[in-house]
Amino acid sequence: MANLSVTVAGVLFKNPVIPASGVFGYGREYEKLFPLSKLGGIATKGTTGQPRPGNPSPRIAEAPAGMLNSVGLQNPGIDAFIANELPNLLQKDTVILANIAGSTIEECVMVAEKLDATDVHMIELNISCPNVKQGGAAFGVHCDSAAAITAAVRRVTSKPLIVKLSPNATSITDIAIAVESAGADAVSLINTLLGMCIDIETARPVLRNNMGGMSGPAIFPLAVRMVYQVSHAVTIPVIGMGGVTSGTDAIEMMMAGASAVQVGAAIFQDPYAPIRIIDEINDWLDAHHITDLRQIIGSVQLW
Ligand code: SIN
Repeated sequence: MANLSVTVAGVLFKNPVIPASGVFGYGREYEKLFPLSKLGGIATKGTTGQPRPGNPSPRIAEAPAGMLNSVGLQNPGIDAFIANELPNLLQKDTVILANIAGSTIEECVMVAEKLDATDVHMIELNISCPNVKQGGAAFGVHCDSAAAITAAVRRVTSKPLIVKLSPNATSITDIAIAVESAGADAVSLINTLLGMCIDIETARPVLRNNMGGMSGPAIFPLAVRMVYQVSHAVTIPVIGMGGVTSGTDAIEMMMAGASAVQVGAAIFQDPYAPIRIIDEINDWLDAHHITDLRQIIGSVQLW
Protein backbone atom coordinates (compact mmCIF):
# COMPACT_ATOMS: atom_id res chain seq x y z
CA MET A 1 0.00 0.00 0.00
CA ALA A 2 1.60 3.26 -1.16
CA ASN A 3 1.28 6.52 0.74
CA LEU A 4 -1.60 8.26 -1.04
CA SER A 5 -1.72 11.37 1.11
CA VAL A 6 -1.29 14.80 -0.47
CA THR A 7 -1.30 18.35 0.83
CA VAL A 8 -3.14 21.23 -0.84
CA ALA A 9 -2.79 24.75 0.55
CA GLY A 10 -1.63 23.37 3.89
CA VAL A 11 -4.54 20.93 4.20
CA LEU A 12 -3.71 17.21 4.43
CA PHE A 13 -5.83 14.84 2.32
CA LYS A 14 -5.61 11.10 3.08
CA ASN A 15 -5.81 10.46 -0.68
CA PRO A 16 -6.14 12.79 -3.70
CA VAL A 17 -9.68 11.84 -4.81
CA ILE A 18 -12.48 14.38 -4.31
CA PRO A 19 -16.00 14.12 -5.78
CA ALA A 20 -16.47 17.36 -7.72
CA SER A 21 -19.02 19.98 -6.82
CA GLY A 22 -22.46 19.30 -8.29
CA VAL A 23 -22.21 15.53 -8.72
CA PHE A 24 -22.28 14.55 -5.05
CA GLY A 25 -24.83 16.92 -3.53
CA TYR A 26 -23.97 17.11 0.16
CA GLY A 27 -23.10 13.41 0.36
CA ARG A 28 -26.47 12.22 1.73
CA GLU A 29 -27.20 9.73 -1.07
CA TYR A 30 -23.64 8.39 -1.21
CA GLU A 31 -23.15 7.84 2.52
CA LYS A 32 -25.66 4.99 2.13
CA LEU A 33 -23.26 3.32 -0.35
CA PHE A 34 -19.83 3.70 1.29
CA PRO A 35 -18.21 5.49 4.23
CA LEU A 36 -17.45 9.04 3.15
CA SER A 37 -14.28 8.79 5.26
CA LYS A 38 -12.74 6.76 2.40
CA LEU A 39 -12.66 9.91 0.26
CA GLY A 40 -9.81 12.39 0.20
CA GLY A 41 -12.35 15.18 0.34
CA ILE A 42 -15.79 16.29 -0.82
CA ALA A 43 -16.54 19.42 -2.86
CA THR A 44 -20.11 20.32 -1.97
CA LYS A 45 -22.81 21.52 -4.40
CA GLY A 46 -22.30 25.19 -5.24
CA THR A 47 -24.02 27.24 -2.57
CA THR A 48 -25.30 30.78 -3.03
CA GLY A 49 -26.60 33.53 -0.76
CA GLN A 50 -30.25 32.64 -1.25
CA PRO A 51 -31.95 29.35 -2.23
CA ARG A 52 -32.03 28.80 -6.00
CA PRO A 53 -34.48 26.51 -7.85
CA GLY A 54 -32.06 26.10 -10.77
CA ASN A 55 -32.88 26.19 -14.47
CA PRO A 56 -36.01 24.66 -16.06
CA SER A 57 -35.81 21.06 -17.36
CA PRO A 58 -34.49 19.40 -19.41
CA ARG A 59 -31.17 20.33 -17.89
CA ILE A 60 -29.10 17.21 -18.56
CA ALA A 61 -28.29 15.90 -22.05
CA GLU A 62 -26.17 12.95 -23.12
CA ALA A 63 -23.38 13.79 -25.53
CA PRO A 64 -20.68 11.67 -27.21
CA ALA A 65 -18.27 10.57 -24.44
CA GLY A 66 -19.83 12.91 -21.92
CA MET A 67 -22.81 14.99 -20.95
CA LEU A 68 -24.09 18.54 -20.92
CA ASN A 69 -25.68 20.08 -17.83
CA SER A 70 -27.45 23.35 -17.25
CA VAL A 71 -28.51 22.83 -13.63
CA GLY A 72 -28.20 26.52 -12.87
CA LEU A 73 -26.79 26.25 -9.34
CA GLN A 74 -29.87 24.74 -7.70
CA ASN A 75 -29.19 24.79 -3.96
CA PRO A 76 -30.90 25.57 -0.63
CA GLY A 77 -28.84 28.69 0.15
CA ILE A 78 -25.97 29.25 2.55
CA ASP A 79 -28.02 29.41 5.77
CA ALA A 80 -29.69 26.04 5.10
CA PHE A 81 -26.33 24.55 4.07
CA ILE A 82 -24.69 25.65 7.31
CA ALA A 83 -27.63 24.59 9.48
CA ASN A 84 -28.64 21.31 7.81
CA GLU A 85 -25.76 19.88 5.78
CA LEU A 86 -22.40 21.09 7.08
CA PRO A 87 -22.69 19.53 10.58
CA ASN A 88 -23.25 16.08 9.03
CA LEU A 89 -20.39 16.52 6.56
CA LEU A 90 -17.95 17.67 9.25
CA GLN A 91 -18.43 14.35 11.08
CA LYS A 92 -17.21 12.31 8.11
CA ASP A 93 -13.43 12.41 8.67
CA THR A 94 -12.73 13.83 5.22
CA VAL A 95 -11.79 17.28 3.95
CA ILE A 96 -14.85 19.43 3.20
CA LEU A 97 -14.49 21.98 0.40
CA ALA A 98 -17.49 24.29 0.46
CA ASN A 99 -18.10 25.35 -3.13
CA ILE A 100 -19.62 28.83 -3.31
CA ALA A 101 -21.05 30.95 -6.09
CA GLY A 102 -23.04 34.13 -6.54
CA SER A 103 -24.50 36.60 -9.00
CA THR A 104 -22.49 39.48 -7.55
CA ILE A 105 -19.22 39.98 -5.70
CA GLU A 106 -21.24 41.06 -2.66
CA GLU A 107 -23.16 37.77 -2.65
CA CYS A 108 -19.96 35.71 -2.78
CA VAL A 109 -18.45 37.82 -0.01
CA MET A 110 -21.52 37.31 2.19
CA VAL A 111 -21.44 33.53 1.65
CA ALA A 112 -17.70 33.37 2.36
CA GLU A 113 -18.09 35.45 5.53
CA LYS A 114 -20.73 33.05 6.83
CA LEU A 115 -18.54 30.04 6.06
CA ASP A 116 -15.54 31.66 7.70
CA ALA A 117 -17.41 31.44 11.00
CA THR A 118 -17.83 27.64 10.60
CA ASP A 119 -15.40 24.72 10.86
CA VAL A 120 -15.45 24.01 7.11
CA HIS A 121 -11.94 23.12 5.96
CA MET A 122 -11.66 24.97 2.63
CA ILE A 123 -13.66 27.29 0.38
CA GLU A 124 -13.82 26.65 -3.37
CA LEU A 125 -14.95 29.84 -5.13
CA ASN A 126 -16.73 29.04 -8.39
CA ILE A 127 -16.08 31.83 -10.89
CA SER A 128 -16.79 29.52 -13.79
CA CYS A 129 -20.41 28.33 -13.88
CA PRO A 130 -21.49 28.56 -17.54
CA ASN A 131 -25.20 28.05 -16.76
CA VAL A 132 -26.32 31.22 -15.03
CA LYS A 133 -27.05 34.59 -16.61
CA GLN A 134 -25.45 36.75 -13.93
CA GLY A 135 -22.14 36.07 -12.25
CA GLY A 136 -20.86 32.56 -12.97
CA ALA A 137 -18.46 32.35 -15.87
CA ALA A 138 -18.68 36.11 -16.38
CA PHE A 139 -16.33 36.51 -13.41
CA GLY A 140 -13.96 33.85 -14.63
CA VAL A 141 -13.24 34.80 -18.22
CA HIS A 142 -11.59 38.18 -17.62
CA CYS A 143 -8.49 38.71 -15.49
CA ASP A 144 -9.78 41.92 -13.88
CA SER A 145 -13.09 40.49 -12.68
CA ALA A 146 -11.48 37.18 -11.63
CA ALA A 147 -8.94 39.08 -9.54
CA ALA A 148 -11.57 41.45 -8.10
CA ILE A 149 -13.87 38.69 -6.83
CA THR A 150 -10.94 36.65 -5.49
CA ALA A 151 -9.54 39.66 -3.61
CA ALA A 152 -12.94 40.53 -2.16
CA VAL A 153 -13.51 36.98 -0.87
CA ARG A 154 -9.89 36.77 0.34
CA ARG A 155 -10.47 39.83 2.55
CA VAL A 156 -13.28 38.14 4.52
CA THR A 157 -11.90 34.67 5.10
CA SER A 158 -8.77 33.08 6.46
CA LYS A 159 -9.91 29.65 5.23
CA PRO A 160 -7.76 28.13 2.48
CA LEU A 161 -9.25 29.61 -0.70
CA ILE A 162 -9.42 27.58 -3.92
CA VAL A 163 -10.63 29.38 -7.04
CA LYS A 164 -12.34 27.15 -9.63
CA LEU A 165 -11.42 28.23 -13.14
CA SER A 166 -13.29 28.26 -16.43
CA PRO A 167 -11.89 26.63 -19.58
CA ASN A 168 -14.09 29.08 -21.52
CA ALA A 169 -11.60 31.91 -20.98
CA THR A 170 -9.26 32.93 -23.79
CA SER A 171 -6.29 32.11 -21.56
CA ILE A 172 -6.95 30.06 -18.42
CA THR A 173 -3.28 30.58 -17.56
CA ASP A 174 -3.71 34.36 -17.38
CA ILE A 175 -6.79 33.94 -15.16
CA ALA A 176 -4.83 31.60 -12.86
CA ILE A 177 -2.02 34.13 -12.54
CA ALA A 178 -4.58 36.88 -11.79
CA VAL A 179 -6.31 34.93 -9.01
CA GLU A 180 -2.98 33.88 -7.50
CA SER A 181 -1.97 37.55 -7.33
CA ALA A 182 -5.33 38.36 -5.71
CA GLY A 183 -4.78 35.91 -2.87
CA ALA A 184 -5.99 32.46 -3.95
CA ASP A 185 -4.28 29.62 -2.08
CA ALA A 186 -4.99 27.09 -4.85
CA VAL A 187 -6.84 26.78 -8.15
CA SER A 188 -9.10 23.98 -9.38
CA LEU A 189 -9.68 23.32 -13.06
CA ILE A 190 -11.37 22.74 -15.37
CA ASN A 191 -15.04 23.50 -14.97
CA THR A 192 -17.23 22.47 -17.90
CA LEU A 193 -16.87 23.67 -21.49
CA LEU A 194 -19.85 25.51 -22.91
CA GLY A 195 -21.64 23.25 -25.40
CA MET A 196 -24.91 22.69 -27.22
CA CYS A 197 -26.95 19.67 -28.39
CA ILE A 198 -29.78 20.06 -30.94
CA ASP A 199 -32.73 17.67 -31.40
CA ILE A 200 -32.87 17.62 -35.19
CA GLU A 201 -36.51 16.39 -35.24
CA THR A 202 -37.72 19.48 -33.41
CA ALA A 203 -34.88 21.79 -34.44
CA ARG A 204 -34.66 22.87 -30.82
CA PRO A 205 -31.79 22.63 -28.35
CA VAL A 206 -32.08 19.57 -26.08
CA LEU A 207 -31.46 21.71 -23.00
CA ARG A 208 -34.18 24.17 -22.02
CA ASN A 209 -31.35 26.62 -21.28
CA ASN A 210 -30.20 26.09 -24.91
CA MET A 211 -26.57 25.63 -23.86
CA GLY A 212 -24.83 23.86 -21.02
CA GLY A 213 -21.52 22.73 -19.61
CA MET A 214 -19.84 19.71 -21.21
CA SER A 215 -18.11 17.21 -18.93
CA GLY A 216 -16.98 13.60 -19.15
CA PRO A 217 -14.17 11.66 -20.86
CA ALA A 218 -14.36 13.79 -24.04
CA ILE A 219 -12.84 16.76 -22.21
CA PHE A 220 -10.07 14.83 -20.41
CA PRO A 221 -7.15 15.66 -22.74
CA LEU A 222 -8.16 19.34 -22.72
CA ALA A 223 -8.17 19.30 -18.93
CA VAL A 224 -4.76 17.60 -18.75
CA ARG A 225 -3.32 20.24 -21.10
CA MET A 226 -4.74 23.11 -19.03
CA VAL A 227 -3.61 21.56 -15.74
CA TYR A 228 -0.12 21.24 -17.20
CA GLN A 229 -0.05 24.84 -18.43
CA VAL A 230 -1.54 26.36 -15.27
CA SER A 231 0.66 24.37 -12.91
CA HIS A 232 3.71 25.74 -14.73
CA ALA A 233 2.40 29.32 -14.61
CA VAL A 234 1.55 29.63 -10.88
CA THR A 235 3.25 28.65 -7.64
CA ILE A 236 0.03 27.69 -5.80
CA PRO A 237 -1.25 24.09 -5.98
CA VAL A 238 -3.60 22.91 -8.71
CA ILE A 239 -6.53 20.54 -8.23
CA GLY A 240 -7.24 18.87 -11.57
CA MET A 241 -10.62 17.79 -12.90
CA GLY A 242 -12.39 17.18 -16.19
CA GLY A 243 -13.23 13.70 -17.44
CA VAL A 244 -11.31 11.69 -14.84
CA THR A 245 -12.83 8.19 -14.90
CA SER A 246 -10.05 5.86 -13.74
CA GLY A 247 -7.01 5.62 -11.52
CA THR A 248 -4.74 5.92 -14.54
CA ASP A 249 -6.55 9.14 -15.55
CA ALA A 250 -5.87 10.47 -12.04
CA ILE A 251 -2.18 9.50 -12.32
CA GLU A 252 -1.99 11.24 -15.71
CA MET A 253 -3.55 14.43 -14.36
CA MET A 254 -1.18 14.40 -11.39
CA MET A 255 1.83 13.87 -13.69
CA ALA A 256 0.58 16.98 -15.53
CA GLY A 257 0.86 18.90 -12.25
CA ALA A 258 -2.29 18.35 -10.18
CA SER A 259 -1.81 17.82 -6.44
CA ALA A 260 -5.28 16.24 -6.17
CA VAL A 261 -8.11 15.33 -8.56
CA GLN A 262 -11.84 15.86 -8.59
CA VAL A 263 -14.15 13.27 -10.14
CA GLY A 264 -17.33 14.54 -11.78
CA ALA A 265 -19.43 12.97 -14.53
CA ALA A 266 -17.95 9.48 -13.88
CA ILE A 267 -19.96 9.36 -10.64
CA PHE A 268 -23.24 9.53 -12.59
CA GLN A 269 -22.22 6.37 -14.47
CA ASP A 270 -20.76 4.59 -11.43
CA PRO A 271 -21.54 5.95 -7.95
CA TYR A 272 -18.58 3.96 -6.59
CA ALA A 273 -16.17 5.59 -9.08
CA PRO A 274 -14.24 7.61 -6.46
CA ILE A 275 -13.58 4.48 -4.37
CA ARG A 276 -12.57 2.47 -7.43
CA ILE A 277 -10.26 5.28 -8.56
CA ILE A 278 -8.51 5.36 -5.15
CA ASP A 279 -7.91 1.59 -5.40
CA GLU A 280 -6.70 1.87 -9.00
CA ILE A 281 -4.23 4.63 -8.09
CA ASN A 282 -2.83 2.41 -5.37
CA ASP A 283 -2.62 -0.60 -7.71
CA TRP A 284 -0.76 1.44 -10.33
CA LEU A 285 1.72 2.76 -7.77
CA ASP A 286 2.34 -0.74 -6.39
CA ALA A 287 2.85 -2.13 -9.89
CA HIS A 288 5.43 0.60 -10.54
CA HIS A 289 7.12 0.22 -7.12
CA ILE A 290 6.33 3.82 -6.18
CA THR A 291 5.81 4.13 -2.44
CA ASP A 292 4.65 7.76 -2.28
CA LEU A 293 2.07 9.30 -4.62
CA ARG A 294 3.64 12.73 -4.21
CA GLN A 295 6.60 11.54 -6.31
CA ILE A 296 4.48 11.65 -9.45
CA ILE A 297 3.04 15.18 -9.07
CA GLY A 298 4.29 17.24 -12.02
CA SER A 299 6.62 14.45 -13.13
CA VAL A 300 5.81 14.64 -16.87
CA GLN A 301 8.86 15.42 -18.97
CA LEU A 302 8.21 17.06 -22.32
CA TRP A 303 9.91 15.76 -25.44
C1 SIN B 1 -24.70 24.27 -12.38
O1 SIN B 1 -25.29 24.16 -11.30
O2 SIN B 1 -25.20 24.85 -13.35
C2 SIN B 1 -23.33 23.67 -12.56
C3 SIN B 1 -22.31 24.40 -11.80
C4 SIN B 1 -21.11 24.79 -12.61
O3 SIN B 1 -20.94 24.34 -13.74
O4 SIN B 1 -20.32 25.58 -12.12
